[in-house]
Amino acid sequence: PIPIIVDCDPGIDDTIALLTAFVSPELDILGVTPVCGNQPLERTVRNALQVCELGRRTEIPVYAGCFRPMFREPIYGQFHGQTGLGNTVLPDPVKAVEKKSAVDFLIDTLIAAAALRKRITICCLGPMTNVAVALRMSPQIAEGIERIVMMGGAYREPGNRTMTAEFNVLADPHAAHVVFSNGIPIVALALDATHQVMLKPEHVAQFSSVSGRISETLAELMAFWDRNDVRRYGSRGGPLHDPLVIAYLLAPHLFKTERARVFVEYESELCMGQTVADWYGKSGQEPNADIVTRVDAEGVIAFFLERLSRYAEK
Ligand code: BDR
Ligand code: CA
Repeated sequence: PIPIIVDCDPGIDDTIALLTAFVSPELDILGVTPVCGNQPLERTVRNALQVCELGRRTEIPVYAGCFRPMFREPIYGQFHGQTGLGNTVLPDPVKAVEKKSAVDFLIDTLIAAAALRKRITICCLGPMTNVAVALRMSPQIAEGIERIVMMGGAYREPGNRTMTAEFNVLADPHAAHVVFSNGIPIVALALDATHQVMLKPEHVAQFSSVSGRISETLAELMAFWDRNDVRRYGSRGGPLHDPLVIAYLLAPHLFKTERARVFVEYESELCMGQTVADWYGKSGQEPNADIVTRVDAEGVIAFFLERLSRYAEK
């Protein structure tokens, strides 16, 4: 199996991503590292613990990440309700968060992997504060990273939090800058990709009809995710942002990428958090990312349907 660490800020779409990863034996989930993002850290940690329990994967350790972004004041998500999980109320977690911090976990795990000449894939589903701080503290961890598959940014597509910026990058643009300028291989699933996969009401009905034990919870979470904004998205439903990271790992044939150099704006007021791709080699700098430009939306929906149907027996 592919060893991964899931860095996240659950979050409704983070939750769908985690639930998909939990039933995928091709993945060896070494840890979940919630960060301050859609909600304050206390909440994203609690949600991560609850989601591990919902998915019956309580053996996966959860490490609390950074309490605040590297430099800016925190901003929180807008489409995840009061608790980060919409109107869904999950039982209080029995599982406890690990004593070690997410940053220490990342550093220790990646250094140990590098010593064995192994590499770990980092899935980033939220602001990239944890990974950036770990890189700042121990740059040698780059040796233990296979690649970073991240959801965030907006290239040809406008932003979703400001005119120019996508939430995960805007929430910690300095962290995104640190990660993109490090030289680690990056696969970028930006709004350009995620807006191609709308989770529509008819899909929600299909998902909940196959997912057995978790069907009611899933239906509730997914129904909350409907933006009901046909003008913006071309249909009802909500974009399946974070789950695409897991789909990309397991079904890369459903995605097309283009290599380019990515720059992150972290100074301008108007364009703070904007991700800029050098599509035509104007910067004279080498590409640092594979940006997903095309997604087979039907294929991806079918992929999630099959994966989540595994909860019927779990
Ligand atoms: C990203 O922002 C968050 O609200 C979602 O969980 C996703 O990671 C989309 O812009
Ligand atoms: Ca997220």
